[in-house]
Amino acid sequence: MTRFGLIGYPVGHSYSQNFFTKKFKKLKLKDHVYDLFEMEFLNEFPALWLKHSDLHGLNVTVPHKEKVVKYLDKQDASAIKVGAANVIYKTGGQLIGYNTDYMAFRESLKAWIGDGFKGEALILGSGGASKAVQAGLTDLDIPYNQVSRTNKGGDYTYDQIKANPEIITRFKLIVNTTPLGMYPNNESIPDLPYNQIKKGTYFYDLIYNPEETAFMKEGKKYGAEIKNGLEMLELQAERSWDIWNS
Ligand SMILES: NC(=O)c1ccc[n+]([C@@H]2O[C@H](COP(=O)([O-])OP(=O)(O)OC[C@H]3O[C@@H](n4cnc5c(N)ncnc54)[C@H](OP(=O)(O)O)[C@@H]3O)[C@@H](O)[C@H]2O)c1
Repeated sequence: MTRFGLIGYPVGHSYSQNFFTKKFKKLKLKDHVYDLFEMEFLNEFPALWLKHSDLHGLNVTVPHKEKVVKYLDKQDASAIKVGAANVIYKTGGQLIGYNTDYMAFRESLKAWIGDGFKGEALILGSGGASKAVQAGLTDLDIPYNQVSRTNKGGDYTYDQIKANPEIITRFKLIVNTTPLGMYPNNESIPDLPYNQIKKGTYFYDLIYNPEETAFMKEGKKYGAEIKNGLEMLELQAERSWDIWNS
């Protein structure tokens, strides 16, 4: 068996398992399998590789993307740049970490806003996905500020922006990397003065379920261009497959 899989906690209803199972079927790879490995604590990571000698690669999801790197033999430049790995490839007896979230965000954003984009970005949230977004924006030479619930995590808190709503008019691109609005909490939304949004601002939500989040709906109401995280998700999965076949 040629085994791949996803580690995280929780991993139920995973997009990745569906994606790779369909891909293996399409490519007639009957001996390939993609498993969900629910792993609450990362100290179970070495035992997983010992248990499955046929394991070739893993995707990594919440909450392990940052801490998993200390279990790896090597990190690709993408994982070093982000400080987190969401793909692991076992090759030549070594475990190598990559970050395909970062590549996928960069590619999907570039295709969406085009080469001529000029302006600043505002990133909502300071977790693992935020770090991938920061690396992507840096590559594209797009300056950014971050919003966090606390003073520690960013340049602004939501309360500061609400107290000075004109701050938000400076940003041409707003990227939601928080889980607010994700199924089943479809109604939740980052706390921002949306009525200040200028027409034509780009609203990128990393969430893909629901297809149109409350954040996107509110942006649309004030004339923003909107995009969800589905393309990023598909691109990161395709890049994982490229890595495992390299
Ligand atoms: N489309 C894709 O391919 C893709 C890839 C990766 C992630 N994602 C999505 O991105 C989202 C975040 O993932 P992640 O791995 O970065 O998660 P994470 O590490 O838990 O970070 C999320 C960040 O959002 C902020 N946050 C959390 N709960 C919040 C709340 N109740 N109110 C306001 N802010 C809150 C926090 O930042 P502060 O503490 O600074 O406020 C936190 O660090 C998830 O919805 C995930 O599905 C999508």
